[in-house]
Amino acid sequence: MTEAEEKRAYRFKGRTAIVTGAASGIGRASAVGLAVEGSNVAICDLNEEGLKSAEAEILALGRKCHRGKVDVSRKDEVFSFAAAAAAALGPVDILVNNAGTGQFVPFAMMEDEEYDRVMDINVRSIFHFSRAVLPSMMDRDYGKIVNITSIMSVIAGQGQSIYNASKGAAKMMTQGMAADLAGYRINVNAVGPGMVLTGLTKNMLGDPDQAAEFEAKIPARRIATPGDIAAGVLFLCSDAAAYVNGETLFIDGGMICTR
Ligand SMILES: NC(=O)c1ccc[n+]([C@@H]2O[C@H](COP(=O)([O-])OP(=O)(O)OC[C@H]3O[C@@H](n4cnc5c(N)ncnc54)[C@H](O)[C@@H]3O)[C@@H](O)[C@H]2O)c1
Repeated sequence: MTEAEEKRAYRFKGRTAIVTGAASGIGRASAVGLAVEGSNVAICDLNEEGLKSAEAEILALGRKCHRGKVDVSRKDEVFSFAAAAAAALGPVDILVNNAGTGQFVPFAMMEDEEYDRVMDINVRSIFHFSRAVLPSMMDRDYGKIVNITSIMSVIAGQGQSIYNASKGAAKMMTQGMAADLAGYRINVNAVGPGMVLTGLTKNMLGDPDQAAEFEAKIPARRIATPGDIAAGVLFLCSDAAAYVNGETLFIDGGMICTR
């Protein structure tokens, strides 16, 4: 392999990345994808079994991995994990704020606790994790932050009002962060998935009849895989996206463009 080919194949060589919610689905595919292309990866989640198997996959690729059980809505846990990750793997270059939760409760029946749960996991986590890694990124004039939002940041769903609010907030936080941080060569962007078969959606999309109903409404005529989404995450984490700031890359098989 020539030097140029190697640089292209291992575009994250020597980098340190943190991926939240990496035990399954989109987070896991992103963490493993970054490792495939050369990055050492720190992974966190509440699901320790899933984390262990993601770690095994990353180590088998010859990369370093640091894992930790973290509730991303807890500032103390987030800051101590980010510090431990940097101590184990080196200063953090890439942060993928992926951990998230769903909501399937009609607005009139929403309780305060459910509101707080959804907003804390989907929005406050981005606020915490980003601030935990930013001082070092700003010192080094380098960083990539990718927030996983959703097509639901711009399309409303029944029984999903607070999920909509959380993803809309995450989308606009991405834009506000990008505006503040672009001058430090820190790129902040979002990926907005459509319908992806993951732990979050397996009850719905794992059922062939329901999946077929959804597929009929998706221009690409299929449900996405986590790998479809991770491909966009990796692009935004790469230096090919050095002049992309505050964007949301919707990866949805054409769902938004037909609305
Ligand atoms: N699956 C879809 O169709 C879809 C569509 C649009 C957006 N998304 C977004 O993609 C992201 C990833 O979800 P996924 O679909 O891969 O689901 P997933 O359930 O497979 O993965 C989410 C992970 O986040 C972890 N997590 C949840 N709460 C946490 C917390 N408080 N602290 C730490 N970890 C926590 C879960 O344990 C899980 O491993 C989420 O932000 C979700 O909103 C998913």
